[in-house]
Amino acid sequence: MRPQIAAANWKMNLTLPQAEALLDALLATSRTTAPHQQVILAMPFPYLPLAISRTAGQSHISIAAQNCHHKPSGAYTGEVSAPMLASLGITHILIGHSERREYFLEDDVLLAAKLDIALEHGLTPVFCCGEPLRVREAGTHDAFVATQLRNSLFHLPPERLAGLLIAYEPIWAIGTGRTATAEQAQEMHAGLRSVIARHAGDTLAATIPILYGGSVKGSNAGELFSKPDVDGGLVGGASLDAVDFGRIVGALKQA
Ligand code: PGA
Repeated sequence: MRPQIAAANWKMNLTLPQAEALLDALLATSRTTAPHQQVILAMPFPYLPLAISRTAGQSHISIAAQNCHHKPSGAYTGEVSAPMLASLGITHILIGHSERREYFLEDDVLLAAKLDIALEHGLTPVFCCGEPLRVREAGTHDAFVATQLRNSLFHLPPERLAGLLIAYEPIWAIGTGRTATAEQAQEMHAGLRSVIARHAGDTLAATIPILYGGSVKGSNAGELFSKPDVDGGLVGGASLDAVDFGRIVGALKQA
C-alpha cells in the first residue's frame, strides 16, 4: 500500500514557547497504528532544529521546511538553502504552496528549479498544486492542475519523480472552511495519477502518494481519506490544534 500521510503546515504561526508546547502535544496525539502511516510536520525555519531533536527516534514523524531558495548558496540575503536544511537533518520540504505562488510570485519554472535543488540534496519534496476559484467555476481545473505538474515536474527522470509526494490543494478551499467534497478530491487525484501515468507509466504513478489539502479537519478527514486515491492530507489551521490533528492522523487508511 502507498504511504498514508498526515502533514501539518504551521505556516507563519507560533512563537518559540508556543511551538515547543504544540510539538509536545502533537507527539502525544499523533499516534500511528501501522508502518505505512506517516506524519510530516512542516514548520518555520527557526523551529526546525528543535523539532528534529524532539522527534528523534520517532520513525513515523518527519520534519519538513516550508520553502528553500533555488540556488545552493551565495549572496541571497535572508534566504535559506536546500543544503542548509539537509545539514540540519530535514527530510521533507513543501514546494509550490499556493501562498508562495500568490504572495511571492513563484512560478512553475522557479518551482522546477526548487524541486531540482531539493532532490539533489536528498530532500523529499511535497509538491503542491491546485486551482483558484475562477478556474474551478470555469470547469478547467483538470487542465490547469495538469499543466502545473507538467511544467514543474515532468523534466525529472522517472526515478526522481518516484521520490515525490504531491498535495492537491484547491485554493478556494485553503483556510476558507470550504472543503472540496471527497468526490471532488478523488476525481482530481485520480486525474493527476493518470496524467503521471501517461508521462511515466502506470506502475510509477501508482506509487506516488497524493495528499489533499484545504480545510481538512478531524471531522472531515475520515470521509476524504476513505477515497482510494486520497493518501492523506496537508493540513494548515487544524494542525495548530494537537487534538484535532491527532484525529486526522487517526483517520489515515489502515490497510
Ligand atoms: P488549511 O490550509 O488546512 O488551513 O486550509 C491548508 C494548506 O494551506 O496547506
